[in-house]
Amino acid sequence: MNDTRDMEPLLSLRTYLDAIKVRGELTEVNGANWDLELGAIAELSYKIPNSKALLFDEIVGYPRGFRVLTGSTTSPTRLGRTLNLGEDLNDMELVAAIRNKPSKWAAGSKEFPFEQVATAPFFENSKNRGQIDLLSFPVPRWHEHDGGRYIGTGCFVVTRDPESELHNGGSYRMQVQDEGASVTLAAVPGKHGAQHIDRWFKKEGRAPVAVSFGHDPLLIVVGGTEVPSGIFELDYAGAILGQRVPVIMGPVTGMPIPAAAEIVIEGWLTPNDTRNEGPFGEWTGYYSGDQRPCLAIDIEALYYRNDPILLGAPPNKPPHDYSYMRTMLKSAMIQDELSEIGVAGVKSAWAHEAGGGRLFIAVSIEQRFAGHARQVGLLASQCPAAAYMNRFVVVVDDDIDPSDLGQVVWAMSTRCDPATDFEIIHRTWGSKLDPMLPPGSPPYNNRVVIDACRPFERRMEFPLVAASSPALLAEVYKKWSHIFNGNEEHPLGNISLES
Ligand SMILES: Cc1cc2nc3c(=O)[nH]c(=O)nc-3n(C[C@H](O)[C@H](O)[C@H](O)COP(=O)(O)O)c2cc1C
Repeated sequence: MNDTRDMEPLLSLRTYLDAIKVRGELTEVNGANWDLELGAIAELSYKIPNSKALLFDEIVGYPRGFRVLTGSTTSPTRLGRTLNLGEDLNDMELVAAIRNKPSKWAAGSKEFPFEQVATAPFFENSKNRGQIDLLSFPVPRWHEHDGGRYIGTGCFVVTRDPESELHNGGSYRMQVQDEGASVTLAAVPGKHGAQHIDRWFKKEGRAPVAVSFGHDPLLIVVGGTEVPSGIFELDYAGAILGQRVPVIMGPVTGMPIPAAAEIVIEGWLTPNDTRNEGPFGEWTGYYSGDQRPCLAIDIEALYYRNDPILLGAPPNKPPHDYSYMRTMLKSAMIQDELSEIGVAGVKSAWAHEAGGGRLFIAVSIEQRFAGHARQVGLLASQCPAAAYMNRFVVVVDDDIDPSDLGQVVWAMSTRCDPATDFEIIHRTWGSKLDPMLPPGSPPYNNRVVIDACRPFERRMEFPLVAASSPALLAEVYKKWSHIFNGNEEHPLGNISLES
């Protein structure tokens, strides 16, 4: 196998793999089949909290060295490293570390514009139209009812606005078509990449596009998170890393392509060049519906490294490949936005993985005035980080940990009257991916803000919580911990043994 690590460009997946291997965060898997087996192994791994990344090699029917990576951001160690925030944080500390960063990264991106370099390892192999076969890579069929093999899950799609010439990088699912000669690009209308494509269609009748299929997972994070319009995700990644990202200007499209990319395509989209795409097992935990026509890329060039690594990020019923990443980012971003608006008393927010980091949000507050809980809930349900496809926002008092679903359900069950504490909002920003959306309907959704705080006017007289005080528990636990097998992570909660 080629070893060129000392010359690796910034955002190299190989550098990342070396680093996580040293930390014991990588499991190597040999001999899995690309057809369902690889996806099912990955799915099994996501069920383990803080699961390791999986590097698949010797995939059935493919040469040794043609690899697939999954689970790149499913632990605080790896996500913390990816975001350049440190590898020793727990979940709460990581969310705290992310707080206030997105706006700093956005502002800082101006100081870290991508940097053009002369060459890149991906030019080790190149193919032109007529020679292109994306199935020469071990592209998985991830889920049993998928409509095909998806090479693009953790991909990074680069587009450019034809007027402003500003670039965009986004992650959108991509299904291999025409026995490997082509690929569809399923960017939802309204996403920045889709807007660029639309403008090219209006201006010139075709849109240039370049895609990287293997890179440091930072490009899934920035490509898959709502970075403000007009900021190129590679510059944003530069601000996160404090270094400019080296790129090659694509020989066919002139698009900036990360020099670290493992597998790259360049090509063109035209409005009527479509293929049937889907269904695909999605992050909501459901298949995305029927096959639908989707824009296909007319691939003009393919480049790839020797022994290329495909970065997979398959969704499924949560937890899935990127639900942890989404929960961490969204939980911090929602708190940031509430604080920027100037709402007082917000203690913490959590965008639960069970809702794919979007559908179910809990916010804890220190109640300051009558109506405070509603204010926070309504704002949280509409703030930019949470507005898309959220369905439940639950506001709880600050003695409830919003990241603990058991505590949130207890608060809903005991501090909330459905007759008065459910605020339903109609015709909000939904998605065609919503399994509740009747076929053919416009993609609105309805949502509810649930006030699960003690009623403000009764908060002083509200029945006392029947749980021993942390001080009493700590004292008793110190003396009796042996009957709990000395387990310091006692199920009753975070009991501090420090005096
Ligand atoms: C792994 C992954 C896969 C995604 N797949 C899609 C997709 O197929 N279509 C889509 O529109 N958005 C998809 N998203 C969400 C977008 O990447 C996300 O909304 C992003 O902010 C879009 O970028 P843009 O607004 O710059 O276009 C995906 C996100 C991730 C992390």
